Amino acid sequence: MESHSKSLLFLCCWLGLLSVSTSAPRQVLYKLDSSWPLNTDVFTGKVFSVDIDDKTGEIYVSQRGVDNHPVVVFSEDGELKRVFTFDTSIVSMIHGLRVFHNVSSGQTSVWVTDVGNATYGHTVKKISTDGKLELVLGTAGIAGSSLSPVQFGNVADLAFSEKGEMYVVDGDGGVNNRLLKLSQDFKVMWHVGEVNSTKDGNFDVPHSVELDNYNRVWVADRMNGRLQAFDADTGKFIGKWTSCFSVGQPYSVRMSKDKTHFIVALLQQSKILLVATPPSAGPIGDCNVLGSIDLPENTGPHLVGVSKSTGAFYVAELNTQTCQKFVPIGLHRINID
Ligand SMILES: *[C@@H]1O[C@H](CO)[C@@H](O)[C@H](O)[C@H]1NC(C)=O
Ligand SMILES: *[C@@H]1O[C@H](CO)[C@@H](O)[C@H](O)[C@H]1NC(C)=O
Ligand SMILES: *[C@@H]1O[C@H](CO)[C@@H](O)[C@H](O)[C@H]1NC(C)=O
Repeated sequence: MESHSKSLLFLCCWLGLLSVSTSAPRQVLYKLDSSWPLNTDVFTGKVFSVDIDDKTGEIYVSQRGVDNHPVVVFSEDGELKRVFTFDTSIVSMIHGLRVFHNVSSGQTSVWVTDVGNATYGHTVKKISTDGKLELVLGTAGIAGSSLSPVQFGNVADLAFSEKGEMYVVDGDGGVNNRLLKLSQDFKVMWHVGEVNSTKDGNFDVPHSVELDNYNRVWVADRMNGRLQAFDADTGKFIGKWTSCFSVGQPYSVRMSKDKTHFIVALLQQSKILLVATPPSAGPIGDCNVLGSIDLPENTGPHLVGVSKSTGAFYVAELNTQTCQKFVPIGLHRINID
């Protein structure tokens, strides 16, 4: 059963890889590594998010299983290395997850957003790489909109600048629809959004966040069916992309290792879109889909993680309750002029 569904998926993805728009100047190709992970018994519930520690190559995956193991850790080869065990009152419902290497402290930590309403819910949490809870941001267990002290409501995802400023999208259908930038000491530097609307700079379920290499911060504004870009220093609105998402709502935004494209999961369509990043600073222009991968129906790709060392990306799959790995097999430039 397991190997049957894997081979089906493999077939799907090769077909998906070929369905590249003929007007695209470039084509991005990935293939499923069906041997990863070696064992999926550790998944006992929906799988929500994934990120990679680029120093060790380890892959951290979050799930909402029945066994109080909300984070499980694999090696690059797919071997299960560790599981984190937490009482559900401490870590209840992880949504987003990022591994961050802090250059000033030399420490690597796992940061998660907890959308649960348990004792420590509605918070951003810092967990050590061996699974100890080290810090809780927000007012534990209470959803809210305060900026000082910062308070979250169904906080969805986060991203870090190299020096450790934090960009947080808040939230996943809760009291807030906003993007916040926090300083290294976790004070709010700026925030945008708040009102649920389709206006530029507002959101309806800001679900995922990513930085690019031109000082822009990108938000998957899920229910509005668009990506929006902001100036990372000021929060000023730069632009939005909607045309690529007429097929479905963007759940994730993550940049590829070579920075040429974003990897965007469309959960309802069980599709991964590879969308070209703007080639320069400033205005973002129109969006351009370089390729797509069709997963089997009802896979439910939720959030993705990208290895900055191998270029592989990993997909946290809500409905199939697993995490899968896709490896790059080349970027082909096609001259069309
Ligand atoms: C990084 O380390 C510095 C120095 O210990 C600390 O002040 C800062 O809060 C840390 N940043 C994060 C995001 O953990
Ligand atoms: C807390 O969350 C649980 C699980 O989603 C839900 O069943 C429950 O109704 C929530 N409680 C409150 C007070 O919102
Ligand atoms: C935002 O507003 C729209 C339109 O009224 C509504 O359908 C949607 O559920 C709202 N979203 C949130 C997160 O409250």
